[in-house]
Amino acid sequence: MRATEILVNEHEVILQVLGCLERLADRAESQRTMDVPRARQALDFLVTFADRCHHGKEEQALFVALEQRGLPKQAGPLAVMLSEHEQGRAAIARMGAATEAAEQGQAQASAQFANAARGYVALLRDHIDKENEVLFPMADQMLDARAQEGVLARFASIESVDMGAGTHERYLDLAKTLCAELGVSWSAPKAAAGACCGHHAPAR
Ligand SMILES: [Fe+2]
Ligand SMILES: [Fe+2]
Repeated sequence: MRATEILVNEHEVILQVLGCLERLADRAESQRTMDVPRARQALDFLVTFADRCHHGKEEQALFVALEQRGLPKQAGPLAVMLSEHEQGRAAIARMGAATEAAEQGQAQASAQFANAARGYVALLRDHIDKENEVLFPMADQMLDARAQEGVLARFASIESVDMGAGTHERYLDLAKTLCAELGVSWSAPKAAAGACCGHHAPAR
């Protein structure tokens, strides 16, 4: 299995949660009130699964391997991807602040949340397209079997050591629950070689 297959499967999960975030933004705008518990769950998913785990695998494993093979980090596709990860973190912080403000009953909070959420959804959809269509095919060409093994080993360590055993599955369950509750169709990530992330049990 190629490292990029795992990341593409994770993109499928993230895209479905972006659909959930869009529903939360729609409701925040149309009803001028926020679904704080679900917003918190969506943010928890984005911080932990999308940023710490998925972007962690890209930044600490795949991008490092590409840099070692001559792709510069300060310019070109890697620089763009890293900058977009940072923009995503800033948008998550804005959504978090708006959620807190909503909890304190501030009138503008739902509009601020909707605005930040829509910006994040657009940013991440475009980011995922660029990775799937441009960067990952480039990575598949650049990384030989040995380099792939190194990246996959680092992925496994990020999941089991950095994130902790069972975390990945817990967040897949959270994504599935959010989709069910917000009326977004859910499809389990494709099982590349039997598993979403390469070494865990097949996703439900
Ligand atoms: Fe990325
Ligand atoms: Fe990605």
